[in-house]
Amino acid sequence: MKIKVGDLTVNRLGFGAMRVLGPDVWGPPQDRAAAHRLFRRAVELGVNFFDTADAYGPHTDEELIAEALHPYPKGLVIGTKGGCVRPSRGRWDADGRPEHLRSAVEGSLKRLKLERIDLYQLHTVDPKVKFEDSVGALAEMQRAGKIRHLGLSNVSVKQLEQARKIAPIVSVQNRYNLGDRKSDDVLKLCESLGIAFLPWYPLGAGDSLVKKKVKELAKKKDKPAAQVVIAWLLARSPVMLPIPGTSSIAHLEENVAAASLRLTPEELAALD
Ligand SMILES: NC(=O)c1ccc[n+]([C@@H]2O[C@H](COP(=O)([O-])OP(=O)(O)OC[C@H]3O[C@@H](n4cnc5c(N)ncnc54)[C@H](OP(=O)(O)O)[C@@H]3O)[C@@H](O)[C@H]2O)c1
Repeated sequence: MKIKVGDLTVNRLGFGAMRVLGPDVWGPPQDRAAAHRLFRRAVELGVNFFDTADAYGPHTDEELIAEALHPYPKGLVIGTKGGCVRPSRGRWDADGRPEHLRSAVEGSLKRLKLERIDLYQLHTVDPKVKFEDSVGALAEMQRAGKIRHLGLSNVSVKQLEQARKIAPIVSVQNRYNLGDRKSDDVLKLCESLGIAFLPWYPLGAGDSLVKKKVKELAKKKDKPAAQVVIAWLLARSPVMLPIPGTSSIAHLEENVAAASLRLTPEELAALD
């Protein structure tokens, strides 16, 4: 199963690289070499879309990806994000000022050891800055050749439409899972536009796995709960590109195998 991200084609199960860091996505992993092994295993398993952000660590996640995988294998697409800063462990502050975004792109290019970022996503909307100015700054970086494709994260239908008037948008990354479908309207719009929808918290950060209906179906099919949940997401829309996150190779292998699990219409209905 494959999906287009702009003019790039990737396998339809991506990897969320955020979970390898210290507690609260703050600081380096306990075992740096283990994080490298996990990332390399993802590539071995055929994963060719990685999601990260400069806010993860901050900075550490991008550094780990470069340490583990650079020079990058052909076809590997890295989607990173900017526009969110971490003044301390518990804080995730929006910073969509054009000057910040310009320096954030430069920082990601350096850490990822890239001359151009395949997918750069505005991490979140900064209410203190005109949205058009944030998107406009990234469009400028794209024109300067530093970004191949632009994506958005944590946006509404209105904001997606607004951004599309400024620059081509190839993806949206919003929270979406079995128990949280508030972004159904954004997903629908992505589908009609033919742009990728990347659900974050695809496993509900673990919550979806303990739902009764998920556990029952997993037992019936003799499959792990994570596979059932991912298969539901994949069946939900052809533009869905789940990016489950994990710090464990065993979980990664389980999750990647979900791409070949098909649920019947009755099974899908039982999860709804
Ligand atoms: N744009 C945004 O604002 C935003 C916000 C949050 C996340 N994200 C992105 O979305 C990605 C996915 O989100 P997420 O990682 O927070 O949540 P998630 O994928 O819904 O869930 C990850 C959690 O599930 C566990 N897990 C993973 N696979 C499992 C399996 N097969 N069996 C049992 N447990 C399993 C992981 O623990 P183990 O480590 O033990 O496997 C981890 O605690 C992130 O990595 C990040 O790239 C974006």
